Amino acid sequence: MSGHPGVVVHHDAVDACRQLAAEIAAGIRQRAAEGKRLVLGLATGSTPIPLYGELIRLHREEGLSFANVVTFNLDEYQGLPADHEQSYHTFMRRRFFSQVDLPLHQAHLPGSMVAAEELQSHCAAYEEAIEDAGGIDLQILGIGRSGHIGFNEPPSSVDTVTRLVSLDPITRRDAADLFGGLDQVPMKAITMGVGTILRSRRIALLAWGEGKASIIARALRESPSDDCPATHLHHHPNVTFILDVAASSQLNGSQ
Ligand code: F6R
Repeated sequence: MSGHPGVVVHHDAVDACRQLAAEIAAGIRQRAAEGKRLVLGLATGSTPIPLYGELIRLHREEGLSFANVVTFNLDEYQGLPADHEQSYHTFMRRRFFSQVDLPLHQAHLPGSMVAAEELQSHCAAYEEAIEDAGGIDLQILGIGRSGHIGFNEPPSSVDTVTRLVSLDPITRRDAADLFGGLDQVPMKAITMGVGTILRSRRIALLAWGEGKASIIARALRESPSDDCPATHLHHHPNVTFILDVAASSQLNGSQ
């Protein structure tokens, strides 16, 4: 079970997300016709915002229903109340859940204030819930400049599962503006593991802009290693890197 990620370069993020949203819509409708559910793994951050925008448009203008969709988010900061401005619970509610007809009991995120003594059972229950739902059909990923997928910071091995992690200094610096200062950025998060992500049937990693060009080149070129967790995606048989021109600019046409 290994291959090399496919790479698709689009003119811009909106164009890329229109195509990916169409793929998701087709999957949802096909499952609905079979009386089944589609299980989506979701990401937060700036990267998937145009994807949520397009899915919302499909819901409003083309009648796409999310009634048969189950979602699992990759990660959540620890130590923030779920209704904190910067929690991923808030992000998902504002940017997606409140704007479509996804039943809220079908949307899952790791807790944001999990007590130390409950961490192990909380993380195990998240893994179990994914399995009980039949596994993730399509996992959406962004990529951090540290090479993280989810919040699997370097070093993260291929067999990691949902767990508490410490955020890399690069990741905390990149989040500082949103939080109003580095000292406000949480130190820890709960994230699905690399192993959890690799169990998804299909994976789409999205990246836009020049700021991602060098980590995208590393993620595609380097051999799989814990030092750049995104390289572990090479082990998956059905992964596509969906890029805009700027994010692909250090690939030199050799991909
Ligand atoms: C978010 C997540 C992270 C982000 C990554 C990129 O749920 O798991 O891996 O995808 O940090 O963040 P942006 O999109 O803000 O550049």
